[in-house]
Amino acid sequence: MLMFEEDVKPTAMPTGRLPISEFGRAPETNGEHDGLSVHAESTVQADSEKVSTGRIRVEDKRIINCKADVNQLVPFKYKWAWEKYLSACANHWMPQEVNMTADIALWKSDKLSDDERLLVKRNLGFFTTADSLAANNIVLGTYRHISNPECRQYLLRQAFEEAIHTHAYQYIVESLGLDEGEIFNMYHEVPSIRAKDEFLLPFIDTLTNPTFKTGTAEADRQLLRSLIVFACIMEGLFFYVGFVQILALGRQNKMTGAAEQYQYILRDESMHLNFGVDVINQIKMENPHLWTAEFCAEVRGLIKKGVELEYAYAEDTMPRGVLGLNATMFKEYLRFIANRRCQQIGVDELYAGALNPFPWMAEMIDLKKEKNFFETRVTEYQTGGALSWD
Ligand SMILES: [Fe+2]
Ligand SMILES: [Fe+2]
Repeated sequence: MLMFEEDVKPTAMPTGRLPISEFGRAPETNGEHDGLSVHAESTVQADSEKVSTGRIRVEDKRIINCKADVNQLVPFKYKWAWEKYLSACANHWMPQEVNMTADIALWKSDKLSDDERLLVKRNLGFFTTADSLAANNIVLGTYRHISNPECRQYLLRQAFEEAIHTHAYQYIVESLGLDEGEIFNMYHEVPSIRAKDEFLLPFIDTLTNPTFKTGTAEADRQLLRSLIVFACIMEGLFFYVGFVQILALGRQNKMTGAAEQYQYILRDESMHLNFGVDVINQIKMENPHLWTAEFCAEVRGLIKKGVELEYAYAEDTMPRGVLGLNATMFKEYLRFIANRRCQQIGVDELYAGALNPFPWMAEMIDLKKEKNFFETRVTEYQTGGALSWD
């Protein structure tokens, strides 16, 4: 039930401040968390619950289980979240700005092998639905449980970027004239794609379940586990075989439009991953009791499972080796990436000595392409119409 002014007794307002409705209150929790000091110079009684109307103090802000008003963006506590929001906005792009003419001509020609065509289709078969899953996870799940406005601001931007990514994949499918039913149903019909999504779904379901609330060690650990799976395994591992494949095509001057789209997507996803890692580490710092040896062992097990699933997908998309790439190279690459994810969240590496067989991917991630981007832009889109006050 949404609460409006009539839910708060007017006579109980001592300072003339707006009552904090459910819109402004941090997400509902089980209320069993420790150590959260909410500064409350004054309170109002709302539905027999004490609600703070005091000014927000930066030290009261928390990533999860915070009782402070989530409508007040400032004062900032997590500058990194606000800076990522600004950077993400500065990186704004739209799929229809990328010229797809060369891809269309190549796809219609006989210059692509059957293996290259299979790779492109299975690649899109994963991505066309993956970013919808990502968007739903953010909007219907994660957002509700993150009780900090600067992080929420970034999540709103991230959700829009997931929509742009789904748009980009749809735009490629449409440009090439692929069978939409075939591509968009691959997550049901191709076992290696389905297996990845089936692995993710329970963790997404945890956060999107309307009855799920944080505030106990068990629930907070569930949230943390889902955040790790989403950032480190979905965005940080399950996307990487696909990114390498299309970018490798682009490096051979094939499917250059699709490769350009993927480069922008990779840039966005790198930031999603880094934001997720920062959130995970901040929750860990604020709630050290969640980070037990048992939990770390479980996380390592999940990352290992992620590597196996992504490797199966690599084999399925490249049954015979293509573009000088083969599934075995991806085994090493995935192990290298998995180690990196372990380091980023502070758990022991899984695969000692794994090396990166695709060092060129680092350049792709560090895309400094704004100038180039504007030179290749083919479509003008309206960024803001002139206002008329007549
Ligand atoms: Fe995405
Ligand atoms: Fe993402």
